[in-house]
Amino acid sequence: MSGQSTTEFVIEPGPPLSGEITISGAKNSVLKLMAATVLAEGTHTIYNVPDIFDVGVMCKLLESMGAETSRRPGVVEIKIRNISPVAPFELVEQMRASTAILGPLLARYGRAEVGIPGGDDFGHRPIDMHLTGLEKLGATFDVQPEGLVGTADRLTGGEVVLGFPSVGATENIMMAAALADGVTHIENAAREPEIADLASMLNKMGAGIVGAGSSRITVTGVEVLEPVSHRCIPDRIQAATFLAALGVTGGEILLRDARYDHMDMVCQKVGEMGLRTSPDRDGIWAMANQRLHAVDLSTLPYPGVATDYKPFLASMLCVADGTSIVTENLFAGRFRYVDELVKLGAEVRTDGNHAVIKGVKRLQGANVVSHDIRAGAALIVAALGADGQTIVADHGHVCRGYPDLAGDLRKLGATIHERPAG
Ligand code: EPU
Repeated sequence: MSGQSTTEFVIEPGPPLSGEITISGAKNSVLKLMAATVLAEGTHTIYNVPDIFDVGVMCKLLESMGAETSRRPGVVEIKIRNISPVAPFELVEQMRASTAILGPLLARYGRAEVGIPGGDDFGHRPIDMHLTGLEKLGATFDVQPEGLVGTADRLTGGEVVLGFPSVGATENIMMAAALADGVTHIENAAREPEIADLASMLNKMGAGIVGAGSSRITVTGVEVLEPVSHRCIPDRIQAATFLAALGVTGGEILLRDARYDHMDMVCQKVGEMGLRTSPDRDGIWAMANQRLHAVDLSTLPYPGVATDYKPFLASMLCVADGTSIVTENLFAGRFRYVDELVKLGAEVRTDGNHAVIKGVKRLQGANVVSHDIRAGAALIVAALGADGQTIVADHGHVCRGYPDLAGDLRKLGATIHERPAG
């Protein structure tokens, strides 16, 4: 799954980062907020929308089903009327977040024809928990290799216990339950801030959701939902990317609009590595003025250290003093970027879901390739701590999650530019 054409990020050694940037709306929230608009006829307005490739894909997906969308900087307006519940397979295949359309379509139209999302470069990502949860509410599915057809005369509230706190499954079940008859309980629900953001928008639409952000969510179904205006939360993963960049270069920055309360654990982890961070009236202030220390870390569902942070935290550890053990507990294949870090001179060994990183003083510039959004960001972060020039070839991944990563780093003083791959 990738976005636009191939570009190259060219990174040269630069001074410590300084200054401020504004963190945009969260990719992993806004795509679900957009899918949720299908639950109510009328015109919805979402604010703080990041200017990223995936928002364009979600607009296309909604348009292909009959919605009208219009975008201006930071805002998307979505008019829902006469929706056809068929999500074209080629769009779903481009972006896994398209599966968020499944619950809303079933709840509102009693039918959903949706492609099976392709796997990311970090491995197979099934949707069995989405389907079992929706079946508990009365949906039935005909699953074919290329896509599935879901039907439900009328969804009915039920007891759903997730085997793992899946973000996507929690969201799909919560959206479907919002228009079901009766009460649904979701046990072992994902607790990510993006879930609470979605619930907050649904409640503004008239839904009866209690407990989002905790591991037990109760949804009391209602007959009808209303269109809404909602402001998306800031992107904690984007904010953490800049903390990692700061850790590698040193310096002092302000991440305007970032929310410390969404980033407690990652701030704690980078704190153990030697960064100072604190909540500021305008966002998060951070400073790095020493060589980073090695730490062990293990990815976990929220509030643990998110798997999405891990690639660029690993980049920090590549230049830290000492040896760190990094454990991936969510996506088995999410170590592919390590081979590229090694090309930059990092000393990393992987064994199953563990990576052992022996920090070196400086990395060396090289030509490397990014395989997914966060891997691309991680290689750019690592390159900031390398001697000589690094070129990160990126087949349209980074633009899926970052509005202008190179531009934002330049604002902070980094020497980086982006050009079409030659
Ligand atoms: N899983 C199943 N069956 C399911 C659903 C999930 O086995 O039905 C497994 C997955 O394979 C994985 C684990 O459960 O091992 C967690 O998956 P989850 O469903 O929580 O992830 P997701 O909803 O597919 C979102 C983010 C990811 C982020 C994960 C974990 C979006 C669009 N994506 O994915 O973000 O890594 O949660 O926090 O919200 C990214 O932004 O680069 C990204 C990949």
